[in-house]
Amino acid sequence: MIEDAAQAVNAKYKGRYLGTIGHIGCYSFHDTKNYSMGEGGAILINDLEMSKRAEVIREKGTNRSQFFRGEIDKYSWVDIGSSYLPSEINAALLYGQLERIESIHNKRKTIYDTYAQGLKDLENENLLRLPIALDNAKTNYHMFYLLLKDSETKFDLLKYLKTYGIQSTFHYIPLHKSTYYENQYGAKDLPITEGCSGRLLRLPIHNSLSLSEVNFVIKKIKKYWEYSMLPKRVKAYLLVHVAFFYLLPFTSNVKGGIKNAPLLI
Ligand SMILES: Cc1ncc(COP(=O)(O)O)c(C=O)c1O
Repeated sequence: MIEDAAQAVNAKYKGRYLGTIGHIGCYSFHDTKNYSMGEGGAILINDLEMSKRAEVIREKGTNRSQFFRGEIDKYSWVDIGSSYLPSEINAALLYGQLERIESIHNKRKTIYDTYAQGLKDLENENLLRLPIALDNAKTNYHMFYLLLKDSETKFDLLKYLKTYGIQSTFHYIPLHKSTYYENQYGAKDLPITEGCSGRLLRLPIHNSLSLSEVNFVIKKIKKYWEYSMLPKRVKAYLLVHVAFFYLLPFTSNVKGGIKNAPLLI
């Protein structure tokens, strides 16, 4: 079994680290991950023979690693392979983060808990659903998402947050909807997966996000609902009022009524 644990470094399920459950586990250190080296990853192998072969494939199909350990007197090509090694520079960047793995983990936990606490009221009012923490899982706080009522709300909120310079994103298109999958295995209907994918909005979360930025995001999300919950008549009233105050200085100047009226922005 090959376990795709791309985002799961330092996360556990039933006491076992993700990536260590299958015969082979794969981690990603792409720059969107909790621990990053720009591009790159790691394979965790639970079988000695497979591990020996992986070492050769990683080194362009040679037994160079054995040579460096002094186990053979020269190295040669013994299998297929390619240059799968990360550069020392990239590895050093990652190593610095792995040395601080728990402090990075705790930082992300604080961001995650702040979002969860700050947005709890909206969940209580049934406007959205927050991520669920499973009893037997230890999360690594890779992402924080909102599950919204429908995809219109998701895109509307995304657009609204963007006007404040807040980057929220929708999640991946489900794999069974990818062109490759559909060409290989045919179209499938998975309504729950598609429903969640359509309604899910991810909020900013990264190792350098400050708590004041997190609180700013929370404030704007709450504002979004304060406004969208207003009855239509109140919204129309507000719109007319705002338009009136914006246009007032302009019309007054044209008529020569109020001179040098300040722009009410
Ligand atoms: C579930 C999953 N698998 C694999 C990958 C690919 O990782 P990489 O870009 O390091 O190859 C990703 C990337 O985000 C992922 O989310």
